[in-house]
Amino acid sequence: MKHTHLILATLLSFATLTAHAAQANVTNAEALTKKYISIAQTVNPEFVSSVTDGKMFFNRKIKMPNGKEMACASCHTTNPANPGKHALTGKAIDPLSPAVNNKRFKDLDKVEEKFTEHCNEIIGADCTAAEKANYIIYLLTERTPSAKK
Ligand code: HEC
Repeated sequence: MKHTHLILATLLSFATLTAHAAQANVTNAEALTKKYISIAQTVNPEFVSSVTDGKMFFNRKIKMPNGKEMACASCHTTNPANPGKHALTGKAIDPLSPAVNNKRFKDLDKVEEKFTEHCNEIIGADCTAAEKANYIIYLLTERTPSAKK
């Protein structure tokens, strides 16, 4: 019996640890969002972040110079809690939602670099702080990977 208890205790503390790790990162992503919101408000004091706008932005299809339509969702899929797939190379991409992937939205420099890279690639200009804030708060709402087909 003692043995079972030990295993249970170990399992429980492991679960708490992983929960903590995910929570810590959600906190981090929320802190990043606050930063972007305060920058957005220096441009437009009326700015209020919006999950709906973030979702629209994520799924918005934009025509590329080659005529193809692309959205953030083209690589990150329409459910950012799911693993993505690069639309051009077919390479797997880890889920973008910080609620399920604790490596996301951790490091401001990396986040800025990726935003600049992908926004330029898809939109043809860097995203605004308002778009970035909405984007991350939308991602934070996506916590449930879709059932595998
Ligand atoms: C052509 C494919 C593709 C498209 C389209 C795309 N991305 Fe990405 N994105 C990637 C890949 C690949 C990574 C992952 C790199 C990695 O795993 O660290 C990534 C990662 C990111 C990250 C890094 C998050 C983090 O902290 O790790 C951000 C932010 C991001 N993308 C924003 C966007 C935005 C905004 C759009 C739409 C305007 C977009 N992406 C469209 C391929 C794409």
